[in-house]
Amino acid sequence: MIYLDNSASTITKPKNVQRAVYNALNTYSANPGRSGHKQAIKTAMQVENVRSLIAKHLNTSSDKVVFTLNCSDALNLAILGSYKQGGNVVCTVNEHNSVLRPLQHLKDIDETFSFTIADQSNKYGISWKDIENNLSENTYMVVCNHISNVNGDMAEIEEIGKHLYEKGILFLVDGAQGGGHFHYDMEKQHINMLSLAPHKGFYAPQGVGCLAMNGTFELSPIRFGGTGTNSLELHQPETTPERFETGTLNTPAILGFGEGIKFVEENFSAIQEKLEDLTTYLHYELSKLPVNIYTNIENSCGVFAFNVEDINSTEIANYLDEKWGICVRSGYHCAPLKHKSLDTLDNGIVRVSMSFFNTYQEIEKFVFAIKSFLKLKK
Ligand code: ALA
Repeated sequence: MIYLDNSASTITKPKNVQRAVYNALNTYSANPGRSGHKQAIKTAMQVENVRSLIAKHLNTSSDKVVFTLNCSDALNLAILGSYKQGGNVVCTVNEHNSVLRPLQHLKDIDETFSFTIADQSNKYGISWKDIENNLSENTYMVVCNHISNVNGDMAEIEEIGKHLYEKGILFLVDGAQGGGHFHYDMEKQHINMLSLAPHKGFYAPQGVGCLAMNGTFELSPIRFGGTGTNSLELHQPETTPERFETGTLNTPAILGFGEGIKFVEENFSAIQEKLEDLTTYLHYELSKLPVNIYTNIENSCGVFAFNVEDINSTEIANYLDEKWGICVRSGYHCAPLKHKSLDTLDNGIVRVSMSFFNTYQEIEKFVFAIKSFLKLKK
């Protein structure tokens, strides 16, 4: 089996991540932050250690790190929680449905709310100009996908952050694909909210996401209930992070996330280099074949998108899976506007997404498999 669907979820987890999940089940299964006994306290301390690690990794403070169900849930909290009646949000053509659908929902319930979609004017990624052209007087937030899950296009988030900061407009970055591959510094990059998908680039288990915040701005909770604090009070607590963390946390996934961060920090340059090399190599080999490539060589970050003539992408993915045991994703990747802009609404896209654990030999085999598919179709 060759697994090249790491943008959906990484499948090989580092040993320290595996051990942390096992230890969590074995040793840290009491409810963190709910009771005062030793077991609950020692679990809570583990969870808080991970929170501090994340805060340090992103250059923000621990009380601004919120654990969510997954990255989509983090984006829902950021978008629904910051909603302003009559306001406008600018997003981009690269957004995932986890941004587009909450925005559409707000528009459905409030006819005075609007969202605007910034097109990408160059072939690399969203630039500040693309955003600036779409701002209006009532724009209170910009949501920007950082690395496209469809083809790896990369937004200039530092430049965008700088200008939005000067204008006093909130900046929400969808870091689902960037987390673990890119060094986020929320202060330097002026990011107010950043969503992460730990089970992707951080090699963590599924079932936990994260919304990290920076600075002070109004954010309402979108879930209400037990937080283990202010229990006699009917209102949700004001203090963060518990204001946004209702119900029991997924401790095994959180502790796995903590070890995933350590793994990424220890291997950061090696991870970046490997992903760049594998993507560049794949790009070079497939450029020699009669295929349509949708990934720019400048954006060699582990995501590579292509198609073969007018063949449906799912036919190619099924062939790779059945004949060669190669796992890739095909179809629409939950990003409808990106497919429209790439003109791939008819057949979707074949997406190859790599991780640190993939090898050159695997990419070689993949190229060989594509050559055999092309022969079949001659
Ligand atoms: N958003 C994930 C993907 O791109 C699931 O496959």
